[in-house]
Amino acid sequence: MEIRLQKYLADAGIASRRKAEELIQRGKVAVNGKVVTELGTKVDDKTDTVTYNGKVVNIERKYVYIMLNKPEGFVTTVKDQFNRPAVTDLVKVKERVFPVGRLDYDTSGLLILTNDGDLTYKLTHPKHEVEKTYIAKLFGTPDINDINKFKHGVHVDGRKTLPAKIEIIEKEEKYCYAKITIKEGRNRQVRKMCDAIKHPVAMLKRVATGDLELGDLPKGKYRYLTEKEIRYLKNL
Ligand code: URA
Repeated sequence: MEIRLQKYLADAGIASRRKAEELIQRGKVAVNGKVVTELGTKVDDKTDTVTYNGKVVNIERKYVYIMLNKPEGFVTTVKDQFNRPAVTDLVKVKERVFPVGRLDYDTSGLLILTNDGDLTYKLTHPKHEVEKTYIAKLFGTPDINDINKFKHGVHVDGRKTLPAKIEIIEKEEKYCYAKITIKEGRNRQVRKMCDAIKHPVAMLKRVATGDLELGDLPKGKYRYLTEKEIRYLKNL
């Protein structure tokens, strides 16, 4: 079957489809011995030989889907310029898995890792608007005006966010706990939205992606997703 080179690389678990496009453009990929930098290039998954950094890329592989409860103090990029620990250090599987989207260094909670490039693409592409739910500890307590601002979208980095939800679940003297749901994955989005309503985040944890919940998975631990959960994510 003929498939696009970036999909071939993603299916083989080399990188996400978007990262694979970068690798192609940087001249790291060859087809039948010739470097290819054209993104539209199609390859036959049975007869063509694809190499990345000079090594043959084998597409016959098993997909794995993992849920990690990411602790604070880990980056979701594979390599970090400051040499900080990466989430991939916590997941001991033989397949090369990649985080689906990002969680900040100082954010904890639900992170999916997989070598299925198609699912990663689907869950992270803005057009799919997959809901992500967080529990946040905020300074002060947002009032009804702030809650309405979330509902209508707030300005972050000069652009309005999609409508979001915020529900106060517990109040303390100086802080509150809130359940926040957003449909995008912009950089530090929840933190910036809370800054915008002047109730900055003191602690942030992702507890769900769509209906997929973190549950009582301990911090730093991971588990394989069930068939049912995988089917649910693929059908989102
Ligand atoms: N929003 C943030 O601000 N940080 C995250 O890690 C995820 C969403």
